[in-house]
Amino acid sequence: MTVGRRVVLGVAGGIAAYKAVELLRLLTESGHSVRVIPTASALRFVGEPTWAALSGNLVATDVWADADSVPHVRLGREAELVLVAPATADLLARAAAGRADDLLTATLLTVSCPVVYAPAMHTEMWEHPATRVNVAALRQRGAVVLDPAVGRLTGADSGAGRLPEPTEIFAVARLVLARGVAGLRADLAGRHVVVSAGGTREHLDPVRFLGNRSSGRQGVALAKTAAARGAEVTLVAANLAVPFPAGVTVVPVVSTAELRTAVLAAAPGADAIVMAAAVADFAPAVRSVVKIKKTDAAEPPSLALVRNPDILTELGADRVRPGQVVVGFAAETGDDSGGVLTHGRSKLARKGCDLLVVNEVGNGRGFEVAHNAAVILGADGSETAVPDGPKESLADVVWDLVVARLANRPAGQ
Ligand code: CTP
Repeated sequence: MTVGRRVVLGVAGGIAAYKAVELLRLLTESGHSVRVIPTASALRFVGEPTWAALSGNLVATDVWADADSVPHVRLGREAELVLVAPATADLLARAAAGRADDLLTATLLTVSCPVVYAPAMHTEMWEHPATRVNVAALRQRGAVVLDPAVGRLTGADSGAGRLPEPTEIFAVARLVLARGVAGLRADLAGRHVVVSAGGTREHLDPVRFLGNRSSGRQGVALAKTAAARGAEVTLVAANLAVPFPAGVTVVPVVSTAELRTAVLAAAPGADAIVMAAAVADFAPAVRSVVKIKKTDAAEPPSLALVRNPDILTELGADRVRPGQVVVGFAAETGDDSGGVLTHGRSKLARKGCDLLVVNEVGNGRGFEVAHNAAVILGADGSETAVPDGPKESLADVVWDLVVARLANRPAGQ
C-alpha cells in the first residue's frame, strides 16, 4: 500500500522552498501523514504557518522545542520516508559530513528508512567538486540524490540546478514508499512498450460521434510509469481528457480503425503491448460527409452499425514478436450469468492475451477518477489483486507482471 504512510519533509533554505509547498500538498492529498522540518533558513522563504496548515501537523523547527520528547529521535524512528526538498549545497554538505547542528540534520542521523534528496542550487554550486564529493558520499550510503533539472534558475541565468518538478519528486516518493529504493531500478530499460489509452470515437457525421467515457488516465499512468522504469514508450492516444505525458512518443488517433493501424504498426518492435484504451465495438455503417439534418419525418432515422475489428484478439492470436507480452483491460459489471471475475476469465481466454486487468465499473469506479482497484488475471492461472489506489500504483503492478514474463528474454531480442 502506498497511502497513509509517515513521511518527513525536510526543507532547506533555498528559494525553491516555495515549490516544496506543492510537494507537501501532493503528499497529503494522497493520504500520507507528513511532518515538515524546515531549517531556519527555509523559514525565511516560507513561514511555519504555511507548513502547519498544509500538513495538518505541528511543524518541528528546532531541537530545543518539545525537548522532553527528543524530537529528532522520535521523528526519525517514526518516518517511513524522508524527503529533503530543496536540498541545498549546504544541507548536502552537512548531511554528508554527518553533522547534527539543527533538527533536520540531527533527524537524518537517526533514520533507518529511505532518504531522498532533491537538490536545488546554482549550476556552479552543483558542479563544484565539493558538492560532487558530498553527493557521491550520500549515494554510496544508500540515499537517493536526484539529479536537478536543467532550466531557469533564480535570476536570469539557467542551467543544471533547478529543483525537479514537485510531481516528479512525488513520483519518486511514491515508488520508494511502494517498493523501497530498489523500486527506482530501471527494470524496463532496453524494452519498447506500446500502450493504448483513451476512448475511440466513431463519427456519424462531421460533428457527432459514438464514444465512451474513458479519460485515458490509466493509459497515461501506464505510459508514465513505464518511462520512469526505463522503457521506450509509444502511447497510442485516443481522445485523451488529460495532458500527454512527457518522455514518450505519442501517436494521436480518433477512431478504432486509426487506433488499430497505429498499434499494429508499432507491434513488431514491441516487447509488451498494453491495450488500456476503451475501443468501440461498433461503428456506424455509413459516415455522412455532411452534418445529418433533422428532417420533418415523424420517426427519427435508425442507426445501422457494423462490427469493429477486435484489436486485442488480433494481437493475442498473432504474436508478431516471439515472447511478446500482451495485456488487455476489461471493465466489467457482474450480471446474472456470472460475477466480474468469471466474465474476466472467459474474456482472457477469448482474447488470447497473457494478462487481463479486470476492474469493476459503475458506482463511481473506473472511469474519470484518479483511483482504480483491480484484479489482474494471468493466462497461467495467476490472480493478482490490486487494492484501490492511484492509477500509477495499478500501472506499476502491471509492469511488475510484464517484467516477470519478459525475464527469460534478454532486452534487444
Ligand atoms: N478491445 C480491442 N478491440 C475492440 C474492443 C476491445 O482491442 N474492438 C480491447 C480493449 O482495449 C481492452 C479489451 O479489448 O483491452 C477488452 O475490452 P472490452 O470492451 O471489455 O471487451 P469486449 O471485447 O468489447 O467485450 P464486451 O462484450 O464485454 O464489451
